[in-house]
Amino acid sequence: MQALYTLIDRLYGGEMLTKEDFVSLIDNHRDQALSAYLFERARAVREKHYGKDVYLRGLIEISNYCKNDCLYCGIRKSNKCAERYRLTDEQILASCELGYRLGYRTFVLQGGEDENDTDERIVSLVSQIRASYPDCAITLSIGEKSRESYQKYYDAGANRFLLRHETATKAHYDRLHPHNLSHENRIRCLYDLKDIGYQTGSGFMVGSPYQTHEHLAEDLLFLHRLQPDMVGIGPFIAHKDTPFRNEPSGTLALTLFMLGLVRLLLPLVLLPATTALASIQPGGRELGILAGANVVMPNLSPENVREKYMLYNGKLHSGAEAAECLDALKKSMENIGYRVAMVRGDRKQ
Ligand code: 5AD
Repeated sequence: MQALYTLIDRLYGGEMLTKEDFVSLIDNHRDQALSAYLFERARAVREKHYGKDVYLRGLIEISNYCKNDCLYCGIRKSNKCAERYRLTDEQILASCELGYRLGYRTFVLQGGEDENDTDERIVSLVSQIRASYPDCAITLSIGEKSRESYQKYYDAGANRFLLRHETATKAHYDRLHPHNLSHENRIRCLYDLKDIGYQTGSGFMVGSPYQTHEHLAEDLLFLHRLQPDMVGIGPFIAHKDTPFRNEPSGTLALTLFMLGLVRLLLPLVLLPATTALASIQPGGRELGILAGANVVMPNLSPENVREKYMLYNGKLHSGAEAAECLDALKKSMENIGYRVAMVRGDRKQ
């Protein structure tokens, strides 16, 4: 047992661990004293670099059309029950305007891989937002594209891009995705994004079907190689209209444990307490912050489309998950000793 505490100390001290080390830590994630120790170290690291600040991002879900058929995802192409929508440029710009008035200084445009979103459209959208809000960070989260497309969006003024790697193990990736999607291309996208100069976000689901602790250890090794600026981690939660409808969800305990490990592994990383974490259990968001997370991404989409962006059952979109309910979020962060900072929230160097 003492050996596991030593592993945490070594990671905290800036040493890299082996895959076997990570597996033995993860195997013991239910040990409450061990995870309490990990979280305390993780908070020390995040507070050293970011103090008590919690950064906010206004999340605009621009379209739930998707040409892909990822087996876990509620907006997969074959889900005929999903009610599809696509925001107009005017709606997206109005969301930014509302967000700016509320104090948000980062907008995340997230969507399925919608074939309607040509490079021209994305470039024009990004340019308009860039012109209206020169002091804001623009983040895109619209999936796998060619390097040339990523470059065009960047040149138009996008600063950040979120694309979770989902799982670092190719054999596992292939069990979560249809044959036309490849692990190789996903990873290629991430390296292209970094190379172009985006602040790049990757990440994975915890407890996705067929996932083992070895897979999670591989996720950590991959993140250490990639050195992303952001890492999104949330529990897998089944969606009723997908092939994984009967699969058990990822647990709160393991998700928090992975957040703590990632904070030690990548001390400066921007680490959101994700909506999935908040959705799986009341208080999940706050526990995520207490495990080392330092970002929350409230929903800034027009209210009438929020329930249509249903990636999994029970996805929250009200209360502290709603961008306009800032006071609720501020209070919940204050209750645990943190404070919301209305700034761009770039990764510290
Ligand atoms: N449960 C949890 N997270 C999911 N995502 C997609 N479907 C689910 C699900 N059923 C996550 C994926 C994707 C992100 C936008 O949402 O990791 O990258």
